[in-house]
Amino acid sequence: NQDKIRKLIELRNEARMGGGEARINRQHEQGKMTARERIEMLLDEGSFEELDMFVTHRCTNFGMEKTKFKGDGVVIGHGTIDGRVVYVYAQDFTVFGGSLSETMAQKICKVMDMAMKAGAPVIGINDSGGARIQEGVTALAGYAEIFERNILASGVVPQISAIFGPCAGGAVYSPALTDFIMMTEENSYMFVTGPKVVKTVTGETITVNDLGGANVHSSKSGVSHFKVESEEEGLMMIRKLISYLPQNNFEEAPMIECTDPIDRLDEELNTIIPPNPNMPYDVKDIIYSIVDDNEFLEIHQNYARNIVVGFSRLAGQSIGIIANQPNFLAGVLDCDASRKAARFIRFCDAFNIPLLTLVDVPGFLPGSGQEYAGIINHGAKLMFAYGEATVPKVTVTLRKSYGGAHCVMSSKQLRGDFNYAWPSAEIAVMGAKGAIEVLEGKNVRKIEDEQERLDYIQKKTDEYDNAFANPYQAASYGYIDDVIEPRNTRFRLIRAFQSLQTKKVTNPLKKHSNIPL
Ligand code: COA
Repeated sequence: NQDKIRKLIELRNEARMGGGEARINRQHEQGKMTARERIEMLLDEGSFEELDMFVTHRCTNFGMEKTKFKGDGVVIGHGTIDGRVVYVYAQDFTVFGGSLSETMAQKICKVMDMAMKAGAPVIGINDSGGARIQEGVTALAGYAEIFERNILASGVVPQISAIFGPCAGGAVYSPALTDFIMMTEENSYMFVTGPKVVKTVTGETITVNDLGGANVHSSKSGVSHFKVESEEEGLMMIRKLISYLPQNNFEEAPMIECTDPIDRLDEELNTIIPPNPNMPYDVKDIIYSIVDDNEFLEIHQNYARNIVVGFSRLAGQSIGIIANQPNFLAGVLDCDASRKAARFIRFCDAFNIPLLTLVDVPGFLPGSGQEYAGIINHGAKLMFAYGEATVPKVTVTLRKSYGGAHCVMSSKQLRGDFNYAWPSAEIAVMGAKGAIEVLEGKNVRKIEDEQERLDYIQKKTDEYDNAFANPYQAASYGYIDDVIEPRNTRFRLIRAFQSLQTKKVTNPLKKHSNIPL
């Protein structure tokens, strides 16, 4: 019996060595951790329970039966983060470059199925040379099995993908189907076709990093939600992200004890909006001031910076924040900003996370560039996401809220629960300059004397501003529930969200909606 136990220990140790010492050293030399090291660092100490460490590939093409590694190219199992269960898989680059075999796909599908049964998040760490070339179509079928599970798990359990190495070809589509993608600055890249194929097909010469590195995907394409400098930073960020999320779509996010005083006032908020409506300010300063302990986990930090999205807490309750950013393109809505915010709102709605919207939006970005890129569709997406969402929705209009963009940004008519405004709010069809041009253009052109003309424009502008450059017209219709003093925003929001904790709204029964994609 002792021998059998010794044998078991030997086999386990063998499995833990993955593709062997030399390949582990190579991994380390490249500044990368091994799959097991990553999982250890991600999870609570000692909580990892590994499964399927004796699984090997079954391929016999190209003499593959002679080279087998226990566990094949992926490590799977479950463990805890801050005591809450998560399911994980980490591709092991030391075994056939982490390339996906049929059995590897089965292992990944196994943890995904278990996560769905248990109602717990799935975290996938990707580091792989793609489909295992020697296996051919069974590897491709394996991918598709994983994709289908990603799709069915969407909106049921949170799915997070870390890209800590190569992720190319079909492999990109599993992360792409998940809720959040994280990439490391140095060693990760994602593309559908690599530089060599690009060169052959289009003639374009481009480096791996310029085509699909973390910088590109976190700023230009928006494929990546988080860019981190190191794997360690990334793993810690996943732990933080998980802390804001519920385990599944039937649960609420965990309540954290709040030590930041609920009735904390911030006098600086009373003067944070510049007197000149064209002057920018950083909306993140307002976010940090309002939320618990100045903590805000920003998503898509470098992509579509004209809108800011991310997680915070108010009185210990997780909330999703969406805020126009006057500091970047004056906070205008464009295609990218609309897509970014819409996806975030839908994530929060799927997982019962209330939404706080801070509005300072001059409108949609005009021009052929935006129209050709389908701003009508993308803007509709954002509208759809807000209008469809049934979680508590609280809006604060800080300054501008003009035109179609006013309707989109969680307006009362899109079932906003509480719509507040600061006294600096301007809620109108458009700004004074544009409005006077349309309404008074003819009259203005009739006035020959220049000074007289300017005086007339000023008079009309003042009239318009008096009527609309304030929140009171909207408040007189009840479209704004209250005009609040900025310094009081924190406790007014906390009270609003607390009163909405029992909110129940359902949408009409349907197979699914047809959001404009
Ligand atoms: N199938 C089978 N084995 C693969 C593989 C794949 N798709 N990708 C990598 N490997 C193996 C390599 O043969 C090598 O094996 P070894 O350790 O026994 O020598 C090991 O994984 C490491 O690969 P290597 O090329 O030495 O690593 P690298 O860091 O220099 O390059 C890649 C990494 C991913 C750029 C490179 O391996 C590659 O281009 N792979 C193929 C990518 C691809 O086109 N996949 C199909 C897309 S669906």
